[in-house]
Amino acid sequence: MKPVLQTDPKAGYLAQKTEIDTAIAAALESGRYILGAEVDAFEAEWAAWLGTTDAIGVGNGTDAIELALRALAIGPGDTVITTSNTAVATVAAIELAGASPLLVDVDEETLTLSPARLTEAIAANGERRIRALIPVHLYGHPADMVAILEIAAAAGLSVIEDCAQAHGATIGGRKVGTFGDAAAFSFYPTKNLGALGDGGAVVTNDAALAERARELRVYGWKERYISEIAGMNSRLDDLQAAILRVKLGYLAADNARRVAIAAAYDAALRGTRLVLPRPAEDVQHVYHQYVVRLPDRDSLRDHLRARQIGTAVLYPLPIHLQPAYRGRIAIANELHVTEKAARELLCLPIHPWLHDDDVARTCDAIIGWINR
Ligand SMILES: Cc1ncc(COP(=O)(O)O)c(C=O)c1O
Repeated sequence: MKPVLQTDPKAGYLAQKTEIDTAIAAALESGRYILGAEVDAFEAEWAAWLGTTDAIGVGNGTDAIELALRALAIGPGDTVITTSNTAVATVAAIELAGASPLLVDVDEETLTLSPARLTEAIAANGERRIRALIPVHLYGHPADMVAILEIAAAAGLSVIEDCAQAHGATIGGRKVGTFGDAAAFSFYPTKNLGALGDGGAVVTNDAALAERARELRVYGWKERYISEIAGMNSRLDDLQAAILRVKLGYLAADNARRVAIAAAYDAALRGTRLVLPRPAEDVQHVYHQYVVRLPDRDSLRDHLRARQIGTAVLYPLPIHLQPAYRGRIAIANELHVTEKAARELLCLPIHPWLHDDDVARTCDAIIGWINR
């Protein structure tokens, strides 16, 4: 039996193979391989697609967060709030910028930064110099930006959105990445907009911030070979930009396919004891992941694996419990929701190239497991 893949970046390449191969060939012929014309064009197209004034192509999504922080002059001595139920990259980037993370619990429904816990964390803060918040639009579901922006404004904090999993997700029709002072995207191959290698972008509507990020990504150069500020090396390359330009043309349709697959899962699994995703009102979830929750998650996972149906657990261990961080990273309050979710969540197969038959086979296998 053919395996059902949980994610399938190769299918994403094959779906647009001719166009991508042509774009790669043109980029190879151009003779400019880093921060060239393809990068310029992609930056303009990505900013226009989102509705921001600037997009800055960088090496990956982790660097994008670090660069946004550094462009905001956030670093040693500063504290940055984010969640523990995220890719480790979010927290790693804060430390790479020299700042200290402070982790806050997530909302029970959306598993994104809880505005209530955030308010408590800020109120209970002692000596820390909290400078910024990084809400993560996890799994493709937007964090509650309306509440978060209000809290940030009242406390005088900058906001950097982590949009690595949420290309095209909206709140009130407005795309995530346009709400904060800046936002970070990853174009890792499995993302909703994925390159065929590493890539990322910082986006912002703040011209001065954009200029700083552009300088910081190439050694702090304003003028070639002259560093105005101490920067880093994190540049998008033209091959990836050329590929991203092709794939951007399909992003809306790819997201719509993810939404359709999610609707099929909803219809088949509603009324079972699985806790299904319940998007907040007025948001468009783009289903980077379709996440169900159940206490005996591992048993279902084994059952599906035995039937060659791939699943994933994002993430099995909250960051504050991982060996690199446990005991030394600051947590603002008990992270009960985060810890429970990590024990219970399971990501079902979802990607735009998944066939209806595969979705049906997955649903049948889940129902079979429930009724076993
Ligand atoms: C939520 C989140 N933030 C940040 C990143 C970092 O992106 P990258 O892997 O491109 O560095 C990822 C992707 O892994 C992610 O899922």
